[in-house]
Amino acid sequence: MRFQGILLICMFCFSFGDARSSPNVEVVRRLFGNDRGARYSNNVIEDAELDVPDLIRKYGYPVEVHHVSTPDGYILEMHRIPHGRYANNRPNSKKPVVFLMHGLLCSSADWVMTGPKLGLGYILAEEGYDVWMGNARGNYYSRRHISLNPDSFISTQFWKFSWDEIGNIDLPAMIDFSLRRSGQKKLHYIGHSQGSTAFFVMTSLRPEYNQKIISMQALAPVAYMGHNKNPLLLAIAPFAHELVTLASLIGIGEFLPNSRVFTWAGQTFCKDEVVFQPICSNILFLIGGWNEQQLNTTLLPVKFGHTPAGAAARQLAHYGQGIAGKEFRRYDHGSRLANRRAYGTSTPPKYDLSKVTAPVFLHYSDNDPLAEIEDVEILYRELGNPVGMFRVPLATFNHLDFLWAIDVRTLLYDTVIYYMKTMNEDA
Ligand SMILES: *[C@@H]1O[C@H](CO)[C@@H](O)[C@H](O)[C@H]1NC(C)=O
Repeated sequence: MRFQGILLICMFCFSFGDARSSPNVEVVRRLFGNDRGARYSNNVIEDAELDVPDLIRKYGYPVEVHHVSTPDGYILEMHRIPHGRYANNRPNSKKPVVFLMHGLLCSSADWVMTGPKLGLGYILAEEGYDVWMGNARGNYYSRRHISLNPDSFISTQFWKFSWDEIGNIDLPAMIDFSLRRSGQKKLHYIGHSQGSTAFFVMTSLRPEYNQKIISMQALAPVAYMGHNKNPLLLAIAPFAHELVTLASLIGIGEFLPNSRVFTWAGQTFCKDEVVFQPICSNILFLIGGWNEQQLNTTLLPVKFGHTPAGAAARQLAHYGQGIAGKEFRRYDHGSRLANRRAYGTSTPPKYDLSKVTAPVFLHYSDNDPLAEIEDVEILYRELGNPVGMFRVPLATFNHLDFLWAIDVRTLLYDTVIYYMKTMNEDA
């Protein structure tokens, strides 16, 4: 196997001071800046503008920043909350590790941006866990490589990856690093959306990693997408790889290459004070399903400050292939020759989910357009060791509510933690 014998280097472990901000700080300033003191408090705007380590520091939690380099040269940034603030706050006591992995176009901010009461990163630290939060190659915090330039006009080489590489290369590197650092042998894995997809990639392609998992808590699990009903996605999906090829011809390998497009869209659609909030909420609902009740609009600037956080166009194309082809396969390079070169077969191999022998808990909901129940059921049937399917007890709960719902703690996180604690964490 190509990436056996991973070499891990902690390049440097330090704090960034105040040199960095959230990925979309310009968007926040233009869209929400004028609302300072009016609709949005300075406190909310500040949360929208701080980067993840500074955000965690602001709320009085311990934070560590670690850099992990992958065998193929990407430099990934991890954020760690090693212990709680109010409970379980003894720095040097050994704690079970939990590794959190964000979804598409997201980052480690997902686990802290709603603050200490609702952010899963903080909740787990208070519950006695050593919390490690990953960042996939190509996102705002992991947009670095030992030799390739993400901003190159000449080559899109940096961006030639999908969630296949995130699962096959990034996750093993980050998991091994956090286990070594914490002196543990196993960890709990919590993944949202693409964070679950990448887990299934890892444990099917590199089954030895199943041994390192105490439990896998999949939030809004995505593997099969054949039952997706979004008309826009269904229309684009068959052309997924062609679109990527076209984009790379004109030098674009990153999806939403910079915040300018996003700022433009925001200003165009969100400028008017009167219509602003409903339309900006609609952008979120369009992606993740409709649920007005559970959306805290006060936190909109924070969400737009941290999301989108960057991804390769191929990550979206790979999902497109799953929607069009109705299979859970490795990335289709578009021609028999290119696939043969990558995989030795003219069509991309299917991920063998029977090799996923770690105990998997699937947390799904009725109103998640990106994880239709039929597709979650297929996943459940094919997994090697699924523990169960757990439905969030609110019919309107959507894809992003897994992170941001007003009642996410009682509806979901308490259940997740309950099941984690049923597992033998000393093993
Ligand atoms: C929405 O978020 C704000 C800021 O964190 C918080 O003060 C408020 O209580 C939240 N609203 C609801 C309904 O939970």
